Amino acid sequence: MRIIFLGPPGVGKGTQADVIATRFAIAKISTGDLLRDGVANGTSLGLKAKQYMDSGGLVPDEVVIGLIEEKLTAPESQSGFLLDGFPRTVAQANTLSEILKTKNQSLDKVVYFVLPKEEIVRRLSGRRSCPKCRAVFHIESIPPKKADVCDFCCTALVQRSDDQPETIQARLSVYEEQTAPLIEYYRGTNILCELDGSGTVTDVQERLLAALSGS
Ligand code: AP5
Repeated sequence: MRIIFLGPPGVGKGTQADVIATRFAIAKISTGDLLRDGVANGTSLGLKAKQYMDSGGLVPDEVVIGLIEEKLTAPESQSGFLLDGFPRTVAQANTLSEILKTKNQSLDKVVYFVLPKEEIVRRLSGRRSCPKCRAVFHIESIPPKKADVCDFCCTALVQRSDDQPETIQARLSVYEEQTAPLIEYYRGTNILCELDGSGTVTDVQERLLAALSGS
């Protein structure tokens, strides 16, 4: 199974990605996580990416494409993958299509998560993440058992630097300008499936599993 999760920031893609990747025994490839790892470890990739991420802009295509090519050719991606946060531009989508063509592979489903803007802003503003194990919480909807502490590894939770109000607005504008055109791009391929991202994590997961079960 080869799946793309598409949709605005904060719609809940990352929250669903781990469960779906585990359920279908496929590799989860999150460009956001890979770039944040690079920033945290001070790699040359991280140094290139940081300024774009902090401002809410997209990291240049050539940087992200290099990263994704490496992941797609890795042995763990050969039985399938879930791309969370890639592609984000038409140029990235075209490159992905070329990479898959050379491997005689195709995509099975592009899941487009839909949620009203005010709920997106509420989710992003209340997000808290574990810098160690990457668990994600929400101060109201998915609170940790002990305030500001990760349930799984007891590390102090942090607010992502790009979840500040001005950066959230910048990310939403960048999404509309550069990523939303991919909805029409994939609608033409007949594999786009629109998913209602509202309700609880379990509600969304049930809809998602139903949508993917026909693939
Ligand atoms: P990235 O990390 O990919 O950010 P994003 O796409 O903006 O997505 P988010 O992680 O913000 O949201 P999400 O949809 O995963 O929501 P989540 O599940 O966390 O990218 C970060 C940056 O990296 C980009 O801005 C860019 O600079 C760069 N980048 C990455 N990929 C790139 C690419 N391909 N090209 C160029 N640049 C790239 O949920 C959000 C909150 O809601 C959480 O608190 C969660 O607990 C809560 N929540 C989730 N589901 C529910 C629910 N059902 N009910 C209530 N709360 C919920």
